[in-house]
Amino acid sequence: MTAVPAEIARFNRLAATWWDATGPMRPLHVINRLRLDYLQQLLATHFGSTRALAGLRVLDVGCGAGLLAEPLATLGAQVTAIDAAEKNIAAARLHAEASGVSVDYRVGELSSALAADSCFDLVTLLEVVEHVDDVPATIDAAARRVAPGGLLVASTIDRTAKSWLFGIVGAEYLFRVLPVGTHQWRRFVRPDEMQAAAQSAGLRRIDLRGMRYLPVLHRADWIRGTSVNYLAAFAR
Ligand SMILES: C[S@@+](CC[C@H](N)C(=O)[O-])C[C@H]1O[C@@H](n2cnc3c(N)ncnc32)[C@H](O)[C@@H]1O
Repeated sequence: MTAVPAEIARFNRLAATWWDATGPMRPLHVINRLRLDYLQQLLATHFGSTRALAGLRVLDVGCGAGLLAEPLATLGAQVTAIDAAEKNIAAARLHAEASGVSVDYRVGELSSALAADSCFDLVTLLEVVEHVDDVPATIDAAARRVAPGGLLVASTIDRTAKSWLFGIVGAEYLFRVLPVGTHQWRRFVRPDEMQAAAQSAGLRRIDLRGMRYLPVLHRADWIRGTSVNYLAAFAR
């Protein structure tokens, strides 16, 4: 078990506003378009364009109320999505039902929510590891769900002076794009720490890129530097 009870309680309190694109989860809504485009391109390149997302088995770990899981299912993937915050899963189920989208939503963690032998073509672990207690164990557990030939895509925030300034002081106190207390700097994860955990579970890194969020414009784009937000892709 790697969930932090105080973090899960905080996410449960945000469940009702999760799908409000101008509410507390606005940054996730803004970066979602970027992530979806990226995943579609990555999958088309990795699996061949004929396979793209159709019929692909996807596991979204720490799915929140389904911002990523739902569009992936709409694009044709068979999506299983898990979250330790039960109110997030309740909100996700309600939203999917209203949208007529089928996602297998489950409450729990990697250690409890899935059958022992289930594995996936794509496992996503987006903006989650900076909220857990044991980062290597979480990445290891996610990596072990990747089927042979499959992918793990993970995103988080680097543990640097710049990420303290931009990710906490700027985002939470100055520009207020995130609720105060969203992030704790000591929980941020260095790209080499993520890579070491994925590598020890048998994956190799195939991409590493920085992501920039512009708070006043509420826009996001890919950048070269990874010293604040970043995303990495790994293959088995
Ligand atoms: C910042 S949100 C990211 C949501 C989603 N991945 C996204 O990027 O749109 C982090 C989510 O991870 C969930 N979470 C935290 N620790 C977890 C754990 N150990 N197992 C499953 N979910 C967890 C939280 O409840 C929360 O919904």
